[in-house]
Amino acid sequence: MNPAIRHVYVHFPYCLHRCGYCDFATTVARVIPRERYLQHILTELEMRAESQQFAPLETVFFGGGTPSLWGPAAIAAVLDWLNRRAGFAEAPEITLEANPGALESGDLAAYATAGITRVSVGIQALHDARLRALDRLHDAAAARQTLAQLGDLLATGRLRSANADLIFGVPGQTLLDLRTDVAGILDYGLSHLSAYSLTVESGTPLAAQVKRGLVARPDDDLQATMLDALPGLLAPYGLARYEVSNYARPGHPSRHNLAYWTGRYYLAVGVGAHGFLPEPGALGLRYGNSRKHERWMAALAERQLCEDLRESIDADQHHDERLLTGLRLTAGLDLTALARDLGDDRREALELRARPGLERGDLWRNDGYLGVTPHALGRLDSLIAELA
Ligand SMILES: C[S@@+](CC[C@H](N)C(=O)[O-])C[C@H]1O[C@@H](n2cnc3c(N)ncnc32)[C@H](O)[C@@H]1O
Ligand code: SF4
Repeated sequence: MNPAIRHVYVHFPYCLHRCGYCDFATTVARVIPRERYLQHILTELEMRAESQQFAPLETVFFGGGTPSLWGPAAIAAVLDWLNRRAGFAEAPEITLEANPGALESGDLAAYATAGITRVSVGIQALHDARLRALDRLHDAAAARQTLAQLGDLLATGRLRSANADLIFGVPGQTLLDLRTDVAGILDYGLSHLSAYSLTVESGTPLAAQVKRGLVARPDDDLQATMLDALPGLLAPYGLARYEVSNYARPGHPSRHNLAYWTGRYYLAVGVGAHGFLPEPGALGLRYGNSRKHERWMAALAERQLCEDLRESIDADQHHDERLLTGLRLTAGLDLTALARDLGDDRREALELRARPGLERGDLWRNDGYLGVTPHALGRLDSLIAELA
């Protein structure tokens, strides 16, 4: 695989409040150490970049946590460092995750001035009772305010793309509620929607409430019905599914996430961040930073990396990862790229294993792509197991 890095992920772990369902690497801090975190991010970038070869960067993603709490100056400083070290390709995609509400989203126009081209905002729902059930800090009015701001930044060309995250299958939610949420969000002219079914992650407050019978467990059948309904709800707005959970207008799929899903290398820095880099003697190196922000901060203050995962990835593992993400894409898994990166033998062996699925009509193949037919998406996991 081409070893030049074109994608960078920066994790900002702080939130004003921890939502009951969330299992991401986040920390609720009374006072957020914005400047200290920036200095440590720049140190980690320097350390990790030392041994890497870069191509002009195609995408950068500031994810969280709530990176919109970091401030435009910190984002500009990271982009400035990346520009000096690697440079940017023409029209790079530079995404900032933001939470709704003036306090959490900050000044989105100032972020655009700092270099952000795409904002991804965690709307989750446009309904006060459901937002409370999800234990979110914002209400529907705050969500609408942020959506209106995004609509304005898109219409005036200050942002190229904007995404909203939506959570569906919350107990008590109906199909009509989902339609109302989707319409409420897309009326603001957003170019992208990520829709996730509510998952009960072990160890979260939500999991404890479900276990004690205080909250109903999300209904799998209802979530499957909603997943089936989403393409039809989004089509009138010009958005089409391109990944199981992701929908975009033509020209607006997330280039950064597509880089993950097509097995590209990427550099990642920050608390809990996971990266995938070239490694001599193996296909790649997967590493994961510690999720404990104090440990990570203390280590970086001493110019030490702070990982709790470091694993060489061989061709077998990479093949399985490519299947796992590639078959979630509507365009399918690129068999030509797979043969280029892993050899013709693997492509041929995969095509052989795909035969029963093709005969049953669960899989399709054309123009060098292998994909899952829409009716079989609910059985994606077992189909992948059959092909791995
Ligand atoms: C880790 S969050 C970061 C973005 C931002 N802080 C926010 O909350 O909007 C990324 C997205 O993951 C989704 N998510 C997190 N935990 C989830 C869960 N247990 N079930 C479904 N979706 C979840 C939410 O839609 C959320 O917007
Ligand atoms: S869902 Fe977003 S705001 Fe809520 S705790 Fe997780 S990262 Fe923070």
